[in-house]
Amino acid sequence: MNAEHKKTVLRMIPYGIYVLTADDGKGNIAAATVNWVTQTAFAPPLVVVGVKTDSGTYQTVKTAQAFALNMLGKDQKSLAFTFFRPADVSDGKLSGQSFRKGTTGAPILVDVPGAIECRVVSIVEQGDHHIVVGEVIDAHLNRPPSGRPDNAILEMKELGESVFYGG
Ligand SMILES: Cc1cc2nc3c(=O)[nH]c(=O)nc-3n(C[C@H](O)[C@H](O)[C@H](O)COP(=O)(O)O)c2cc1C
Repeated sequence: MNAEHKKTVLRMIPYGIYVLTADDGKGNIAAATVNWVTQTAFAPPLVVVGVKTDSGTYQTVKTAQAFALNMLGKDQKSLAFTFFRPADVSDGKLSGQSFRKGTTGAPILVDVPGAIECRVVSIVEQGDHHIVVGEVIDAHLNRPPSGRPDNAILEMKELGESVFYGG
């Protein structure tokens, strides 16, 4: 296989940008910007996320057995960069962002257009990122979109010419 071709062709896959959050109830709160996300079933509603196994986020999601996906809006590029770095909670804020606890305990960012909460139903342990399968058990529509819902979300290609996660 040609390594450059593999990288270029894999980078043709379009992605939205999300902040994955979880709270294990033992003092560990995770928040990380992720893009390896998709829905995989209607009934029950399932989504999958590829999560880096050596991240704090992975451990917290595994212990919590639940997570939230906060959908970043078109105007929230700076938030994407905020959560590329390890998250911290201080003064009741998550890396400076207002949040509330969701049904699963996972932080729901109040300024994002929407978020879903999931219970972990399975983890596929393959590769350096594991596939976390979540059943959607709650949804928060903070800012109803005026047009197509998928027009509201920040996309990977809007983060900059050289920003990729994939390849
Ligand atoms: C553009 C971009 C996309 C990313 N997408 C993912 C992803 O889909 N899954 C993932 O586990 N980490 C992804 N990351 C890495 C996490 O954002 C980063 O490792 C995390 O914020 C650090 O988490 P930790 O504090 O839990 O170690 C991405 C990073 C960048 C720069």
